[in-house]
Amino acid sequence: MSISRQRRDEIRARIIQLIGENDFSVSAFAVQEGLSVQTVYRYLQDLEKEGVITKRKTGRKNIYTLCEQDKLFRYPLQGLKEDIIWKRDAEPFFSDLPSVALANLSFAFTEILNNAVDHSNGTEVKILLRKNGYIATAFISDNGIGIFRKIADALGLEEKRFAILELAKGKFTTDPDSHTGEGIFFSSKVVDAFVIGSEDLMFYGFSDTNPYLDTSIAPASGTHVLIQIKYDHTEPMSDVFDRFTQAPDDYGFSKTVVPVRLLEYGDERPLVVSRSQAKRLMVRFEKFQNIQLDFSGVDEIGQGFADELFRVFQNQHPNTRLIPINCNAQVGNMIARVLASTDNT
Ligand SMILES: Nc1ncnc2c1ncn2[C@@H]1O[C@H](COP(=O)(O)OP(=O)(O)OP(=O)(O)O)[C@@H](O)[C@H]1O
Ligand SMILES: [Mg+2]
Repeated sequence: MSISRQRRDEIRARIIQLIGENDFSVSAFAVQEGLSVQTVYRYLQDLEKEGVITKRKTGRKNIYTLCEQDKLFRYPLQGLKEDIIWKRDAEPFFSDLPSVALANLSFAFTEILNNAVDHSNGTEVKILLRKNGYIATAFISDNGIGIFRKIADALGLEEKRFAILELAKGKFTTDPDSHTGEGIFFSSKVVDAFVIGSEDLMFYGFSDTNPYLDTSIAPASGTHVLIQIKYDHTEPMSDVFDRFTQAPDDYGFSKTVVPVRLLEYGDERPLVVSRSQAKRLMVRFEKFQNIQLDFSGVDEIGQGFADELFRVFQNQHPNTRLIPINCNAQVGNMIARVLASTDNT
């Protein structure tokens, strides 16, 4: 029985995906797909001939990997136009990406390159493009002041790491006359992996493990942004924007999700206890109508912290709804206690 064209394409795509995820075995794949081992080998040979995969032997075993293509560009930042760079140099390189992945990557790429032009105060940007049929990568690296330092200086933060909390909330900009502070927030959410490194800090917009993050491009001065999207990325940008708007008739960026854990960046067991931590967390909360406070990774919160947020802030800002999510029993009980005392007053 011959296999339809569509089925053949599906088998090829699945092989590429499994090799990309380092999870491919000829015999397991044959069983899963109901194919003979010989048939699977034929697919592998074709992919090898086309330059999509390579094979090397370790002992008696064949190890398959995806072939990668790279391209490196350097541009002076002065007068650089991000849309022109995308159209002229990046889009042709990524021309084999399906339309959703390409559109989302184009958005994140141009936002991040625009940031280098408008905010870095640097002189040069390097861009590394990489693809392998499974995942596409853009690494955008400027030689400017460094994003966390810039934000910390602008806000007078006592530590650079608190800049990460502001980026995670969204709507943060150091240039409100020309910008809205949405670029990094949405860029990080329309792709599969998003990492910003500068000096000794890394911001992971997504928690996926990142097999292509190379230590030879470890963060130094300047700002270095890694953007990765899988070829089979399915969520279009419009759905992401919808997730962060309050209602179908509201087109603004009015909802956000704040990982409370970022208050204690780097600590294994964040201690979220004090009123001053709550005050740091709630900076600019009034710009949103709906804030999900994500307590995942937080074992315990203090009464002062919960009271400041869920009673004091909430009473003063009835138009901003705070919604705790991913709470363990202790965190949930503490919030419930504070809310009960609010109801009684
Ligand atoms: N490459 C960079 N170098 C230094 N600072 C940066 C860099 N990229 C971003 N920033 C800082 O981070 C802030 C947030 O960036 P983001 O892209 O989210 O918003 P924005 O550029 O201000 O506004 P928008 O993207 O909506 O036009 C910027 O206002 C700027 O202070
Ligand atoms: Mg921006």
